[in-house]
Amino acid sequence: MKTLLLSSEYADIKTAAQIIRNGGVVAMPTETVYGLAADALNGEAVRKIFRAKGRPADNPLIVHISELSQIYSLVREFPVKARRLAEKFWPGPLTMILPKSALIPDEVSAGLDTVAVRFPSHPTARQLISLSAPLAAPSANLSGSPSPTSLRHVRDDMDGRIDAIIDGGDCEVGVESTVITLATPIPELLRPGGITFEQLKDTIGEIIINSAVINPLGEGQQAASPGMKYKHYSPKAEVVLLDGDKEGFYEYIRKYGKAGEAVLCYNEDLGHFSLPCISIGSEHDYRTQAHRLFTALRMVDEEGIAKVYAHCPEKRGIGLAVYNRIIRAAGFNIVKLR
Ligand code: TXA
Ligand code: MG
Repeated sequence: MKTLLLSSEYADIKTAAQIIRNGGVVAMPTETVYGLAADALNGEAVRKIFRAKGRPADNPLIVHISELSQIYSLVREFPVKARRLAEKFWPGPLTMILPKSALIPDEVSAGLDTVAVRFPSHPTARQLISLSAPLAAPSANLSGSPSPTSLRHVRDDMDGRIDAIIDGGDCEVGVESTVITLATPIPELLRPGGITFEQLKDTIGEIIINSAVINPLGEGQQAASPGMKYKHYSPKAEVVLLDGDKEGFYEYIRKYGKAGEAVLCYNEDLGHFSLPCISIGSEHDYRTQAHRLFTALRMVDEEGIAKVYAHCPEKRGIGLAVYNRIIRAAGFNIVKLR
């Protein structure tokens, strides 16, 4: 299949909308990561997304809207806490899981009784939705790879596999949206992202952090969000996460680091290693770390690095999102330092 490269000009977005109305698949920029979009109400079109990504059929997709009013036909209930979150954080990097309406095809919800809905803030995504339909869109990477945050990432994974790609430059947030379920008695954070746990709590009160956000799923434990059970965000390189103070981190790498390996670090760590370093930003600047993380993980493979060491991020604010992605990239391979 020849993949058409489109710009973010209005005429090109119209072309993309036409492709979607005809049942095609288009990669679109959003403020979080690029998404692989198809008409959410067309089951056959949605199946093409799964094929292009090599995504397991039991992993449901997020439906993207461009006006709040569109949510009423997609969900059975829109509880008051969901309304408050929508008022405060939409449009933006927040996904809410709610009981689904009969309109949602099984392909989208993967057989669950709920649907994930997001109202992105990116102008191109919004325009594309308003010219076509609510769009089912997972991240536009091959299943298992780090999510794409630039045009180049999308082309590397999807060229020849989908109808078109819209160039929207680099994505601002850099990690996928925060996912919260409101379909449980107490709202539960399933995936941390650009909207933080602290912000959610300030808005609606009690929230549980699902244990799979920072821990591996236990044997036989069911994933609240099917995406949690799959290996994710993984470069081909082995990622080793080191948990301890800075001195311990430096010492470990000096002792065990070998040629062909590298360090994923913060600006403040540069100069402390003989191994090559890829910095994801300043130590306490979680926003920049999130913005750069997936590019750094892809760079590790582009450079042919076999093993990369990283220092455990802090679990506060957007730092929790960085931590959640890194422990998955590391396959929960964490070394506790003395
Ligand atoms: O920022 C984002 O959310 C991006 C952009 C494109 O919007 N999309 C994205 O989609 O990250 P995806 O498919 O890569 O991740 C969606 C996650 C998956 O882990 C999936 O299992 C979970 O949300 N999910 C979707 N629907 C769900 C549902 N009904 N119940 C529980 N989890 C659900
Ligand atoms: Mg994904």
